[in-house]
Amino acid sequence: MHLVALSGSLRAASTNTALVRAILGLLPTTDRGTLYDGLDDLPHFSPERDGDEPPTAVLRLRQLLATADSVLICTPEYAYGMPGSLKNALDWLVGSGELVGKPVAALSAGPGEDGGERAGASLVLTLTALSAQVVEAASFSVPFVRSKLGPAGTLTDLETEQRLRLAALRQAVAR
Ligand SMILES: Cc1cc2nc3c(=O)[nH]c(=O)nc-3n(C[C@H](O)[C@H](O)[C@H](O)COP(=O)(O)O)c2cc1C
Repeated sequence: MHLVALSGSLRAASTNTALVRAILGLLPTTDRGTLYDGLDDLPHFSPERDGDEPPTAVLRLRQLLATADSVLICTPEYAYGMPGSLKNALDWLVGSGELVGKPVAALSAGPGEDGGERAGASLVLTLTALSAQVVEAASFSVPFVRSKLGPAGTLTDLETEQRLRLAALRQAVAR
């Protein structure tokens, strides 16, 4: 399985990005994982900019996702929703369709007790609009995320680690 993973945070010390890195580190050697790092390079979406020659950063995102068997997105919550930069990336995929029918794990992580679940819900809503196959059993919120990461951003919580092994996502790809 080739898993393409996106963090919805632009912060250098992001807890969401730390989680995504941990997930990639937990993949079995038979899987391949790629961390998409171009969120901050994408121009603001407008249908007029999506003509015959889409921006290079957009092509890069689309080409990477086209090679994915599955996708994982982990989002922080800002003002009760996913960050605009992540929504913007997803808007660029509406017309091109790289996520149509593709198994996607939609995660959120936050410092509070709900783990940014409203952002997770907004992510699921948008993925549904894109006709992605949101894998429910692989989609969840990680509450109190700061207490589950060590100083170097490594995962220290065994229960979370088990859930991040993404067995349900792998099963969805195999089906
Ligand atoms: C302006 C602002 C708005 C925020 N809004 C929310 C919110 O609505 N709900 C929430 O749970 N956390 C909220 N947070 C907290 C962030 O989600 C939290 O800092 C998170 O760790 C950021 O993700 P990251 O560590 O991956 O960068 C907000 C933070 C800021 C700075």
